[in-house]
Amino acid sequence: MRIYPDLKENDPILQLFHKGVKGQWSSNDFDWELPFHLDEAEATAFAHILTPVYLGEQTAMLGASTILPHFAEAHETSAQLYITTFMLDEARHFEMLTKVYRLLDRRPLEVRNLREMFRYHYRLLKSKNRLDWLFGILISDLFAKNFYGAFRKTFPHTLFGKLSTRIILDEARHQAFAEHYIGAMRDEMPHEVRDRLLSMRDDLLFIMHEMLHKLQDEAGVVGIDGYEILQELTHDVEKKVHVMGLDQDEREAALREEEEREHLALMAVSDEEILLSNE
Ligand SMILES: [Fe+2]
Ligand SMILES: [Fe+2]
Repeated sequence: MRIYPDLKENDPILQLFHKGVKGQWSSNDFDWELPFHLDEAEATAFAHILTPVYLGEQTAMLGASTILPHFAEAHETSAQLYITTFMLDEARHFEMLTKVYRLLDRRPLEVRNLREMFRYHYRLLKSKNRLDWLFGILISDLFAKNFYGAFRKTFPHTLFGKLSTRIILDEARHQAFAEHYIGAMRDEMPHEVRDRLLSMRDDLLFIMHEMLHKLQDEAGVVGIDGYEILQELTHDVEKKVHVMGLDQDEREAALREEEEREHLALMAVSDEEILLSNE
């Protein structure tokens, strides 16, 4: 532990921490009297399809507490600060969804009803490495984003639509952190780590596919298309993998592009120098 750590004002992670602090809100800010517009059967189906997201909020909150000491060990102070806002965000989402279940007078699914949830969360929490954990959480955040996005689209003027809109903003901050943190490491990332992350992506997407397949009928009851969510999620994950430079082909293409750019910049400098020397 460092008593007086070096905390640079221009560190983008510190800026995300500031945004996280400013972006705090409470479930009490919402009007819980707003109707849900769900009949009895729809309320049951809704409670069931919300379960993986509900468990995801708890897993993220718990995982953040496990990973915090690893940031401390690595002397990454801004990441330690940031992760505390992340934890409070996930705690708020968890508390809020609990309130939603109470309001609906429904229970979430049990793990025995949807074994894939256990496999998913085991896969996510298995990793104690902060890079692996962040990558898994990023996929989980994208899953949540697409689910809440579908809820927002399907129930725009209801309490849950409004809650979803607010949660998506928090999730965007979480994605930004993971993207920045992992992206910053990509140049030094050994191939085996890259492969490990990509195989985690494959495992998680496969489990999500099985999970959504089982929930598809109930999702249909409330007008949500599980396959559409999966398709958008796969697209989002691929986009992030590309942006973070984890995709092998894309990475090589990006490296070639960078070399070309450097070469052109070098040529431009030498042209300028030639002009100057001729003056
Ligand atoms: Fe969340
Ligand atoms: Fe999140």
